[in-house]
Amino acid sequence: MPFDILTFPALLALSWSAASAASLLPRATPKYTIKWSNCTDVNLPNLQCGTLPVPLDWSNPISGENITLFVSKIISTSPSSSKTKLGSLMWNPGGPGVTTSLYCQLIAAGEIEFFSTALYSHFDIICPDPTPVKCDPKIYNQMPQLFVNSSTSFQKLVDWNKAFGESCLNKTGKLLGHVDTTSAAHDLEALRLALNTGKMNWFGNSYGTQLGAAYAELYPENVRTVVLDGAVDHSLTETVATTTLSTTYEAEMIRWFEWCQASDTCPMHSAGSTLPQVFDNLIAEANANPIPAPYCVSTGTCQPTVTGYDMIFNAEGAFLSDPRLTGWPAFGLAINQSLSGNASLLSNSIQTETSNDAFSGIAIGCLDWVAKHATYSEHLALQQLGAVVAPHTLGAQQFMQYSSWCFNWPIPTVNPQRWLNQSQIAKLPAESVLIVNAEYDPETSYAWAQSLKDQFTTTGTNGDSKAVLVMRKGDGHTSYAAQGQAARVMDAFWVNRTIPANGTVVDS
Ligand SMILES: *[C@@H]1O[C@H](CO)[C@@H](O)[C@H](O)[C@H]1NC(C)=O
Ligand SMILES: *[C@@H]1O[C@H](CO)[C@@H](O)[C@H](O)[C@H]1NC(C)=O
Ligand SMILES: *[C@@H]1O[C@H](CO)[C@@H](O)[C@H](O)[C@H]1NC(C)=O
Ligand SMILES: *[C@@H]1O[C@H](CO)[C@@H](O)[C@H](O)[C@H]1NC(C)=O
Ligand SMILES: *[C@@H]1O[C@H](CO)[C@@H](O)[C@H](O)[C@H]1NC(C)=O
Ligand SMILES: *[C@@H]1O[C@H](CO)[C@@H](O)[C@H](O)[C@H]1NC(C)=O
Ligand SMILES: *[C@@H]1O[C@H](CO)[C@@H](O)[C@H](O)[C@H]1NC(C)=O
Ligand SMILES: *[C@@H]1O[C@H](CO)[C@@H](O)[C@H](O)[C@H]1NC(C)=O
Ligand SMILES: *[C@@H]1O[C@H](CO)[C@@H](O)[C@H](O)[C@H]1NC(C)=O
Repeated sequence: MPFDILTFPALLALSWSAASAASLLPRATPKYTIKWSNCTDVNLPNLQCGTLPVPLDWSNPISGENITLFVSKIISTSPSSSKTKLGSLMWNPGGPGVTTSLYCQLIAAGEIEFFSTALYSHFDIICPDPTPVKCDPKIYNQMPQLFVNSSTSFQKLVDWNKAFGESCLNKTGKLLGHVDTTSAAHDLEALRLALNTGKMNWFGNSYGTQLGAAYAELYPENVRTVVLDGAVDHSLTETVATTTLSTTYEAEMIRWFEWCQASDTCPMHSAGSTLPQVFDNLIAEANANPIPAPYCVSTGTCQPTVTGYDMIFNAEGAFLSDPRLTGWPAFGLAINQSLSGNASLLSNSIQTETSNDAFSGIAIGCLDWVAKHATYSEHLALQQLGAVVAPHTLGAQQFMQYSSWCFNWPIPTVNPQRWLNQSQIAKLPAESVLIVNAEYDPETSYAWAQSLKDQFTTTGTNGDSKAVLVMRKGDGHTSYAAQGQAARVMDAFWVNRTIPANGTVVDS
């Protein structure tokens, strides 16, 4: 139903990271202790919830203030004393800003099938949450269009993102300056020390790949296995990120057109070869005259009208991301209904809580990515770039959201894009990083996976590769959730350290 871009297991959106020179300095480490108890939302024998005090500011870890990290744990099916038990596997399913512990509660309760039996028998699955950011939902819900066509509509965006950012600073306080991915990577090390179950085994989907890469760069000697599924490349400039993300989304949309034309289960099938034109016209008309969303009007959970850009932004996460393609027919329905004046399935969510995943996601993204532009003409140039490289999807993708949300953020980007530090990467065990990406991932371009692999390959006479890259020939964002060969390659890597051959391509 009404869309929320942070939908599991479509496994979400992007964002990205790394560390400043200062934060690479060795730090004195206090003793970290985690307090475990039954979870309050759901009481299951295989699930525990815990809290861990960690420094608010990692440049002052000893005498500074602490914040509390919340984490849940799916307890391994093997006893700790058993030889089968290999340790802990930490997971971040994406976002950024997603409440991972909630997904693990659903998984532990059997409501979502995700991890394999092999993983449960060899690992405790550890699900740390991001530290919650609070903002004013009323201001959020008044977000203007991110695509503008006049200096007046640009000024509306400027005023809105200033007001929204200020509300986050008002309600979150100084924590707002410390939710960047480098800080989160330090938190993971505190968690690893508190768990005391050996070296890091990491599983990151989407944004979780950026977080995992940041951890591997900061603490290379503490890594056993790092799996990066749906690779975010945190070295890209705004322009390159816009181009690559726009083109990979466009490619997936064209794949969807082709599928819909060929498949009579698609609710837009009878459009035949006119489908791309029908789609383009619908988007243009909805931009001129937004389409009503009667379901949203009756429930109040989403916006009453929907523009063409809203439809494109929302289709990516809600319908075209699940690697099992479960959203493809539903996207046909959403388009078919929109053509007859009901765009409810593509409407923006309305937020009601002060603290939610969407707000954390924006706050993390704005500390990790420099949105370089500040003027109307620069914003227009970015829109035009999107429209040129992506004629159907027009550059309406998540990087455009960061670009639009962040240029007035009250805190400057503390963790800007850059290449991973090669002298740190050199300290990683050989082939300890497995990168997996679908050929037609709409949210993380295969080009990003290749660039990330390059960053894990040290150059020079002693240069060697710390990463192996596997391609899944197929569609959708991330690969483990497809539960096919790619998932089994990842399982074998975590459990047996089985390293796939360079250039491995899997079909599922
Ligand atoms: C890279 O890491 C090394 C430590 O391994 C550090 O000395 C150096 O300053 C770092 N370089 C940058 C650009 O941060
Ligand atoms: C913060 O937490 C650390 C580690 O748990 C602890 O050693 C330290 O005393 C705490 N600091 C404060 C100010 O509570
Ligand atoms: C925690 O949950 C387990 C089983 O789910 C139960 O046996 C135990 O009594 C609970 N402990 C507390 C302190 O509630
Ligand atoms: C932030 O707080 C100040 C002081 O309480 C208030 O004047 C201002 O309106 C608030 N701004 C937002 C955007 O909430
Ligand atoms: C839209 O759905 C209706 C009702 O199922 C169907 O009759 C019509 O052919 C569909 N439109 C297209 C373009 O496929
Ligand atoms: C800008 O877009 C809005 C909404 O589609 C439209 O009403 C307005 O006429 C456009 N303005 C210009 C200057 O094109
Ligand atoms: C509009 O679409 C939504 C989602 O498919 C559906 O639940 C609702 O009944 C439709 N409303 C109308 C008035 O057609
Ligand atoms: C690990 O290797 C053993 C022995 O070859 C095999 O039986 C098992 O299936 C492998 N585990 C995974 C998860 O691939
Ligand atoms: C992959 O290629 C690199 C050199 O590019 C080599 O060092 C490494 O051993 C190869 N890995 C495998 C599993 O073949």
